[in-house]
Amino acid sequence: MDVIDLKQALSKFTDHWSPRIVASLNGQDVKLAKFQGEFEWHRHADADELFLVVRGGFVMEFRDRAVRVEEGQVIVVPRGVEHRPVAEDTCEVLLFEPTGTLNTGDAPCSERTTAGARLGGQSASGGD
Ligand code: NI
Repeated sequence: MDVIDLKQALSKFTDHWSPRIVASLNGQDVKLAKFQGEFEWHRHADADELFLVVRGGFVMEFRDRAVRVEEGQVIVVPRGVEHRPVAEDTCEVLLFEPTGTLNTGDAPCSERTTAGARLGGQSASGGD
């Protein structure tokens, strides 16, 4: 039951759109990710997806509107709803979603597609 230091964990990687798993509970993963630029349009048929902005801000685009999410704010994208995160500047985000959820959802797999890698070298990850 070690404390997870989000800032410290976020300092351990620099790549964008590549979530790292820092904790798992009740069949869900807590992930940290850095956003910059545009991601793919996609939806998750069976997973609601929570985004909490740790630093910066981004825009969650939906087909009929766009919502800006700022530092300290949370958005939950319901399952089945098509979405695309867009970040003008680097943004640090905590995600909470079922284990195994692919970041690109139903979009064709790309080099960005991942269910998240466990953040290495951190005891707070709960072990590998
Ligand atoms: Ni998504």
